[in-house]
Amino acid sequence: MKLIATDVDDSIQKMNNMLRAELERPGHAIASYFYRSHLVYQQELTELVFRSWLYACHVSEIAAPGDYQLLEIGEDSVILVRDAAGEIHALMNICRHRGARVCEESSGNRKTFVCPYHGWVYNTDGSLKAAREMEILEGFDPSDHGLKRASVVVFMGLVFVNCDPGAPDFRGPLQNIAQPLGAYDLEHAKVAHRQTYRVDANWKLVLENYLECYHCATSHRAYARMHTLKERDCKVEPIVQAMLDRTEEVTGVKGMGNGYERIYLDAEAFGACVYHSRYGLYDGFLTGSENGQPVAPLMGHIQDYDGGAGDFQMGPLSFMLNYPDHCVLYRFIPRSLTATDMEVVWFVNGDAREGVDYDREKVTWLWHNTTLEDEYIITRNSEGVNSHFFEPGPYHPEFEATLQQFVNWYLETLSRVA
Ligand code: FES
Ligand SMILES: [Fe+2]
Repeated sequence: MKLIATDVDDSIQKMNNMLRAELERPGHAIASYFYRSHLVYQQELTELVFRSWLYACHVSEIAAPGDYQLLEIGEDSVILVRDAAGEIHALMNICRHRGARVCEESSGNRKTFVCPYHGWVYNTDGSLKAAREMEILEGFDPSDHGLKRASVVVFMGLVFVNCDPGAPDFRGPLQNIAQPLGAYDLEHAKVAHRQTYRVDANWKLVLENYLECYHCATSHRAYARMHTLKERDCKVEPIVQAMLDRTEEVTGVKGMGNGYERIYLDAEAFGACVYHSRYGLYDGFLTGSENGQPVAPLMGHIQDYDGGAGDFQMGPLSFMLNYPDHCVLYRFIPRSLTATDMEVVWFVNGDAREGVDYDREKVTWLWHNTTLEDEYIITRNSEGVNSHFFEPGPYHPEFEATLQQFVNWYLETLSRVA
């Protein structure tokens, strides 16, 4: 891992000047300053990441009362837990006494969370159950000292968290993709595999890589053989249109091809991006696997292969690539200035049995390998961007259009608060 030096003269004033300079020069990659400054990183957490809706986990991973999963964001930790009454809560993993983590294991089942430091005990709904010997403190009211909360929304089995307790609604925006997303019946889907890829690069470099397919032809040979996204729209329009013309009839799902785009500055509310488009696979390829042939039973309500795949975005940092027989979720979370967790989750139909109906290696092959290719190219990018002589070049107007939407949102949001 490369060590990144912070500029010694860094300040809010400098950040403002740098932001202004970028806004005056649209269409270009941004300066290395934004990938190197600890001050910028802290602003990003406060103003972007902690105000955005993030995928946390699937309902099946916290199915029973007391089941929980931790979500690590930056240096912070959020507990996603199902309480005794079956309700899901997002609780800040910070004791209300003197701040110790109340839960260390990344997942499990608990009747209560007991702080390891002085033994305060919290219920799974976050309320303080017991604070040892604190009754002698006059006026101490346990109900004032429950674990702090984040906002939580469950949509089609996907649990989303927003660290802002007053975050604007996300369910309403998500409703706009209910028809195509509903096809996969994710609520009853099964997590076939889940893996965290720690990338030694600033989170923006990792996300920016995901937001463009300019690199697909050069970095992802296996992917590029099957997916039309590696080409400009005009070159693959007939393939995509033919797929869209047949998709409803073949899949049996009304609205399967319906596109929707409200992301970044166009999002209905801050941090509530929603996107769907259905794009084509080349002739002879049915799904995203090593040879393009099915690797699991058809998902949800889908009746047959239409030669298409669904491209979804839910919030600024969470995405899905949905094939008729499996779905792949991506989430990007900063862990430090130079470390990012890229979480990949593979879903199959809820009834599918591993080793009988699907082989986990086959389901994960394409996107595991593609992710490793991305990790390689992102870390090379990070080295170059952090070198003294880096000068940002122009974005490709079509291939890197979404990336520019992200960068505009990023610059506008930080400059509004700076
Ligand atoms: S810090 Fe948790 S009980 Fe003291
Ligand atoms: Fe990639």
